[in-house]
Amino acid sequence: MAMNLEERTLLIKKWVLEAGDKIQILLKNDLSVQQKSNRTDLVTNIDKEIEKYFVEKIRTYFPDELIFSEEGFGNTVTKLDGNIWYLDPIDGTTNFIMQQKNYAVMIAVYEDGVGQIGMIYDVYNNKLYEATKGRGAWVNGEKISQPKNISMRNGLLALNSQIIFRKEFETHRNLGNESLGVRMIGSAGLEMMEVLQGRTALYLASSLEPWDFAPALILIAETGLVTRNFDGMAIDLLNKQSFACGTPQSIKDFLGYLEKKRLQ
Ligand code: IPD
Ligand code: CA
Ligand code: CA
Repeated sequence: MAMNLEERTLLIKKWVLEAGDKIQILLKNDLSVQQKSNRTDLVTNIDKEIEKYFVEKIRTYFPDELIFSEEGFGNTVTKLDGNIWYLDPIDGTTNFIMQQKNYAVMIAVYEDGVGQIGMIYDVYNNKLYEATKGRGAWVNGEKISQPKNISMRNGLLALNSQIIFRKEFETHRNLGNESLGVRMIGSAGLEMMEVLQGRTALYLASSLEPWDFAPALILIAETGLVTRNFDGMAIDLLNKQSFACGTPQSIKDFLGYLEKKRLQ
């Protein structure tokens, strides 16, 4: 089905808002929670239902396009050719189970590895973050302006929990000493929306999957922010990897700090 970018954006937005409504209805019943790889890696019936809902829509409207998604209803994606969908039905599942807030529905479309449309829906706060390539980043219809290029010293540092727990990330967590303070939400997508709005200078995650960062990357690209892995390399859209997202200055400060510590 031929559809231009604008039409696709409108359609995806409709799906995302519908998914938010579905979540709120499903939340009225008891959640069924299962463990995946370990005790803290959880999935609920709602994560699965929402992924199935999007997969069905995508396969109806765009039957030739591949889906890179978290809960197993998509495809195996090994190359970036053509249109690829990235889908994280609920980012922040542990928050979803424990708090019923601080989670987001996340979806993106890339064409030959270039981000076209990215959406992150903070259902609890009814905030829809969206970007279509070349048209800026928006939240609930308001354009997000480019955040100030704050340094690590003048900003907050956000971390994912593995950086706090794991021995190998001691240097990374100690970067907190160079910042104004450390914060942690527990949803990669929402952490990046804080960076996008100039409230956090830098977000570090020990390892993220492509569905965790692909939607945010499109919003980030529209607002002059920078993403790198912990080796200072560009983010790879096919693999799990370490992840840093921040103002250009905070990324420079972070990579410079790692280098300085490595040489000590
Ligand atoms: C997780 C969250 C979390 C991040 C993890 C992700 P999920 O996503 O974004 O903040 O630290 O690495 O896996 O599993 O809740 O969709
Ligand atoms: Ca996720
Ligand atoms: Ca998820």
